[in-house]
Amino acid sequence: MNSLLTAPLAPLLTRLFAAAETADAPLRRQFADSSPEERDALMQQARTDYLGFYGLAREMYLPVSPETGRLLYLLVRATRARSVVEFGTSFGLSTLHLAAGLKDNGGGRVIGSEFEPGKVARARDNLRAAGLEAFAEVREGDALQTLARDIPSSLDLLLLDGAKVLYPKVLSLLEASLRPGALVLADNADQNPTFLAYVRAPENGYLSVPFSDEVELFMKL
Ligand SMILES: C[S@@+](CC[C@H](N)C(=O)[O-])C[C@H]1O[C@@H](n2cnc3c(N)ncnc32)[C@H](O)[C@@H]1O
Repeated sequence: MNSLLTAPLAPLLTRLFAAAETADAPLRRQFADSSPEERDALMQQARTDYLGFYGLAREMYLPVSPETGRLLYLLVRATRARSVVEFGTSFGLSTLHLAAGLKDNGGGRVIGSEFEPGKVARARDNLRAAGLEAFAEVREGDALQTLARDIPSSLDLLLLDGAKVLYPKVLSLLEASLRPGALVLADNADQNPTFLAYVRAPENGYLSVPFSDEVELFMKL
């Protein structure tokens, strides 16, 4: 059984990644056309005012790449994961990959988190359209609150893809629930060098690999 490569999910993902290309193009163009100083200012806003920063991006998908999505599905399947948490759901493209993996594993649940209500609604619609709503829950609100309660005691996999400045806080919130051997995939973690240094230092309890330019993958020891 493979939900990722068959209908309804496969054509839905093709459509959503294409829609994301169109919706996110103006932001990408603006970023590419801006001066290094303007780019620094934007990154600084992301660090100091993440609510304001993501408020401006409420119409943007900002999804994981199709390759990272496929990697998420593969990791869920390979580890026979049952319990997954996601920081930063947006329109739910990563959530769809994670939930599909759980379904194909025979069951489980991904707990997503998103503070933009419009995005929460769209993510839930997408999960319903894919027939995956039984395998995912999207918690509305700031993940610092929504992921601070009712988390399964043994997490198999964590995706970090919300505000990069919060990666250390979200990891420490969930650290005790990660089972030994649990995997953490952090997207665009290069935007938080302090966080990268932390997870790459084995004395902090992780074994980490810079998987690609965008992805840091690490395991709880
Ligand atoms: C890069 S996008 C996530 C993309 C998503 N993982 C996907 O592949 O489709 C980051 C999302 O995280 C949300 N976000 C950022 N910080 C958050 C927080 N503290 N709590 C909840 N959501 C947050 C933003 O609103 C944004 O939609």
